[in-house]
Amino acid sequence: MAKRNTYFQDEVIERKIDIRQLGRTLRYVLPYKRVFMLVGVLMVVSSLAALIPSLILKRITDVIIPKQDYAGLVYMVLSMVLLAVLEIGITFAHSRLMGKTGHSIIAKLRQDIFYKLQELPFDYFDNRPNGKIVVRVTEYVNGLANFFTNFVMMLVIYIIKIVVVTVLMLTLSPTLTLVVFATVIPMMICVFVLRYTIRKLFGLHRAKVSNRTAFLVESIMGEKIVKNYNRTELNEEIYREVHNASLKHWRKIYLRNELNTPIVEFFWNTGTICLYGVALSMLLNGDPLINVGLMTTFTAYMSQFSGPLTQIAFIIQNLAQVSSNLEQVFDTIDYPVTIHDNEGSQELKDVEGKIDFNNVTFAYEDGVNILENFNLHVRNGETIALVGPTGAGKTTVINMLTRFYDVQEGSVMIDDKDVRDLTLASLRREVGVLMQDPFIFKGTVMENIRYGRPDATDEECIAAAKAIYADRCIDRLANGYQHMLDERGEGLSAGEKQLISFARIILKNPSVIILDEATSSIDTETENLIKQALDVIIKDKTAFIVAHRLSTIRNADRILYIADKGIAEQGTHEELMALKGLYYALNV
Ligand SMILES: Nc1ncnc2c1ncn2[C@@H]1O[C@H](COP(=O)(O)OP(=O)(O)O)[C@@H](O)[C@H]1O
Ligand SMILES: [Mg+2]
Repeated sequence: MAKRNTYFQDEVIERKIDIRQLGRTLRYVLPYKRVFMLVGVLMVVSSLAALIPSLILKRITDVIIPKQDYAGLVYMVLSMVLLAVLEIGITFAHSRLMGKTGHSIIAKLRQDIFYKLQELPFDYFDNRPNGKIVVRVTEYVNGLANFFTNFVMMLVIYIIKIVVVTVLMLTLSPTLTLVVFATVIPMMICVFVLRYTIRKLFGLHRAKVSNRTAFLVESIMGEKIVKNYNRTELNEEIYREVHNASLKHWRKIYLRNELNTPIVEFFWNTGTICLYGVALSMLLNGDPLINVGLMTTFTAYMSQFSGPLTQIAFIIQNLAQVSSNLEQVFDTIDYPVTIHDNEGSQELKDVEGKIDFNNVTFAYEDGVNILENFNLHVRNGETIALVGPTGAGKTTVINMLTRFYDVQEGSVMIDDKDVRDLTLASLRREVGVLMQDPFIFKGTVMENIRYGRPDATDEECIAAAKAIYADRCIDRLANGYQHMLDERGEGLSAGEKQLISFARIILKNPSVIILDEATSSIDTETENLIKQALDVIIKDKTAFIVAHRLSTIRNADRILYIADKGIAEQGTHEELMALKGLYYALNV
């Protein structure tokens, strides 16, 4: 199992940065291959066109000016204007096409991560702060957009440009071409080394940014506790720390980026001096080719040669950033979905409600068993109450039944069918869970009730609320069923939230009901209401009730006292009271 991670720990992604990650993006790019080809052609045309002005200039200085050929000059100037217009047109078409395509590609990637997040097993979420998950879907993916829209094509174009310029230079003067190479190659080595160190820093920077987001999200979610425990100042300090940690790497990246220009300029100036030096000695040796036109063209080509090269270095650095982003994005996309429909799994239907836990052993973290050889056999329609100390494993028992986690040993059966042989969709349709903190989504009361059955009519939703006596409580809200609720149900009392979630489950109508401390935060005012509602919910169904509130479980068919990785005591309320053991101790 993956190690747990917090906001002050860097996430360690074990996979190394490799070209395969970029290769995998091909899957996203290939559907747009036509657009890419079209853009490719446009860009080849435009980059070739960009080479023509130097040739025109050479002709003007070499031929037209000496001959004072004014018609020729007009002709040349017109062709330059035409080239410029062509260039503008192509640039426009290119950015239109790539802007759209890049964003479609990113949209698909973003969607894939979201879909994946919906499927991921709980241990993925257990091991990472929410913020670190959010940052993957939002920030990491953002950087990729630019990469796809601009850089991929540019890379190809720059390579083409370099090849063409090299050929042109060689035809003009092989010796001078060698001089250009002799300066540009060491320059590139320096630039690439620099980029390599920056690449490493980017990975570190990412990790720190993700820590910062994790802390941010946690602070927002715990806002009330933050204020009540006077953590504001301390949290500001922690924020500064996590922020500075990211800044530290950013500064290093920034400083190194700044080094880039002096390096390029140093080699560039040296190169130009060498170029003129060599040309001068060739001229002195009587080389007929050397003249002003050639030197102008050559200097222009030298910049057209090294320009793309430095750009390539820049793209490669970006590639590094993109690659470290992709690493984390694919880490999510690749995360094994351990809980899935197994081959040949069947639909769970016409549930009778017989449930068996056979020798179940389970651990969240290797070596720390929460349940050991746990055995429990439940008859159809039986109501089972689970009590016991906090952390004893009551919720864990439930987690096995809903397949939120899979058992390590043994099996859990519903109607004599192993839960692992049932489709997850049918299992979760038939087994309904109500938790202590009923999650309320942003939306109306009606929408919240309808959550598990989007096709239900308003009447069905209202009937569900009525069935558990929640309608009076809902009517009291300013807009009744159309009352807008905030995320997590801020502004509702615990009892009101609970009633809405009860209505939600009544509407879903599962065959097996689980209430995990669903009644423990209820105020006395709604307690009676909730108790009545509870009876409706579990009527004629197999039910598991985990409760603090002992009054709610007194009528259960069987009460289990969970302790020491198993069942310590079981029986009816009367039996257990007579036993004068652990359960009895809870009641006195
Ligand atoms: N996702 C998890 N990862 C690791 N340990 C967990 C996880 N959930 C619960 N535990 C641990 O398992 C034990 C049993 O937890 P739980 O079943 O939730 O207890 P309870 O009886 O209070 O419902 C506790 O020690 C708890 O800390
Ligand atoms: Mg619990």
